[in-house]
Amino acid sequence: MDTRPHDTIRALRWSGGALELLDQRLLPRTEQWIRCTSCDAVATAIGDMVVRGAPAIGIAAAYGVALSVIRHYAPGSAWRGRVDRELERLEAARPTAVNLAWAVRRMRRVLEEIWGDPREALLAEAGRIHREDVEANHRMGDLGAAYLDGGGVLTHCNTGALATGGYGTALGVIRSGWAQGRVGAVFAGETRPWLQGARLTAWELVAEGIPVELICEGAAASLLHRGVVQWVVVGADRIAANGDVANKIGTYGLAVLARHHGVRFMVVAPTSTVDLATPRGADIPVEERPAEEVLRCAGRPVAAEGAGARNPVFDVTPAELVDVLVTERGAVERPGAARLRELVAGL
Ligand code: MRU
Repeated sequence: MDTRPHDTIRALRWSGGALELLDQRLLPRTEQWIRCTSCDAVATAIGDMVVRGAPAIGIAAAYGVALSVIRHYAPGSAWRGRVDRELERLEAARPTAVNLAWAVRRMRRVLEEIWGDPREALLAEAGRIHREDVEANHRMGDLGAAYLDGGGVLTHCNTGALATGGYGTALGVIRSGWAQGRVGAVFAGETRPWLQGARLTAWELVAEGIPVELICEGAAASLLHRGVVQWVVVGADRIAANGDVANKIGTYGLAVLARHHGVRFMVVAPTSTVDLATPRGADIPVEERPAEEVLRCAGRPVAAEGAGARNPVFDVTPAELVDVLVTERGAVERPGAARLRELVAGL
C-alpha cells in the first residue's frame, strides 16, 4: 500500500455489512458516523450532503448498488426490478457530479455479466472503485505538485479526503506539494452557503499539520492582485467533452480572476469525472438547491425576512481558462476536446 505523509483521513468505510459515512454536515464540531444499510439510505445521505464531493458520491453510490442487491437478491423472484427502481432514485440524488452515474454504470455492468449470486462480486467492485480512487488521487497529487513552485495556492470548496475515497484531488495536490516543499501558503475560500472551505478543508488541513488561511470569497480578487497567489487549484464535478469544467459555485469567478492577474489555474479530477457524452459545459445540468441554504447560515436566519434567494451550487468554467488539467492518466496543458478524448481512450 502507498503510504504517504498527510494522508490520515477517511470518510467512508464498509463495516459489518453497512456503508458508514462520516456526517459532513456536522464537521468540524462533531465527528459522527452514519450507518447506511440500504440503497435508499445512501441516496438520502447523498441528497442531504452527509457525503459530498464528486468522487465520494460515486464511491458511496457503488456501495449503494451493492446494498440494493444484498437486500433484494432472491433467486426466482423479481429482484432485478426492485434493484432497478432503487438505482433510479440513487442516480437522481444529485444531478451535476457525473461520478454518480459513472459508478452506477460500472456496477450495473458487473451485475449484468453475472447469472448466479452477484452479491460478492458487486461488493468487490465497490471496494475496487474505492481503492482505485485513492490510488488515482496519489498519482494526481504527484503530477499536480510538479507544477507548483513554492508560492501561494488558493483552493475552493473541499476536494480532500472528505470529498473522495481519501487524500483528495486538488487538496491531494496541495498535500503532495506541501510535503515536497512546493507550497508556500495555502488559502481556502470559505465557500458559501455550505462552508465546505471553512468547515471541511480547514479541518482536514489543520488535522494534517498543513497551515491554512481562510478567506471570504470576496477577498480573492485582492489577494490575486497583491501577488500572494501563484496557482488556483480546484476540483471538478463534471468535465464536458470540450473541456468545460463544472465545479462548486464561485470557481468560474476564480478562473476569470486568475487569467486577468496572470495566475495559473489548475483543475484536478479523475477520468471518472470526464463525461464525453456531454458535449459542452452549457449542457451540464447545474443543481439548484433550496433558497433557505442561502438565507440561513449554519441553520440560523441571516437575511432580511421576505428576501428571496437563488442557489445554483455549481458553475461552469470554459476550457480556455484552464491552464492545466491533472488526471490520474496524465496532466494536460490547455485541455481541449482532442486531448480529452486521448486521455480517456480505452476506458
Ligand atoms: O456540493 P459539493 O460539496 O458536493 O461540491 C463539491 C465540489 O464542488 C468539489 O469541488 C468537486 O466535487 C470535486 S471533489 C474532489
